[in-house]
Amino acid sequence: MSTAVFPGSFDPVTAGHVDLIRRAAGMFDRLVIGVLVNSAKKPLFSTEARVEMLREIVRDHSNITVCSFEGLLVEFVEQQHADAIVRGLRSSGDFEYELPLAQANYKMNQKADTVFLATAPEYSYVSSSAVRELLRYQADISEYVPETVLRYMKEHGMVSR
Ligand code: PNS
Repeated sequence: MSTAVFPGSFDPVTAGHVDLIRRAAGMFDRLVIGVLVNSAKKPLFSTEARVEMLREIVRDHSNITVCSFEGLLVEFVEQQHADAIVRGLRSSGDFEYELPLAQANYKMNQKADTVFLATAPEYSYVSSSAVRELLRYQADISEYVPETVLRYMKEHGMVSR
């Protein structure tokens, strides 16, 4: 059985992530979404909120699970008995950032091969950091995130409209 890990901060999960999750879930028997707990950074959304939103988004996909992880990605990959790490590439800038990470991960664990998926062109400008920036100015993020994120934010009083 092939298993892949799709890791990220997901702060918050974007429409681009959802597209990649859907495509990756079709390529592997099992997909584990790994939500990074980064104690060095203060995320906009708590770990619990990020996991909850992702679980709601993938609830109709029986081969996808969502977990949080702390520490090295390669260790999480090993715990999950995964064969691959899936990352999305929006641009050459992403590639510059991702290649050394993929190589470092491979050096630490030869079972942790990274598979890159080209982001769909309509999401090439979408990022969690852009969402957080737009939110600082109360700008509309409805094109950037799935409905679940908008609903969560309304229910938790994070947006006024
Ligand atoms: O969504 P992001 O923030 O781009 O995801 C980055 C992530 C979670 C994939 C990366 O920061 C990560 O793997 N962190 C865990 C620590 C680790 O293993 N770092 C790589 C060692 S070189």
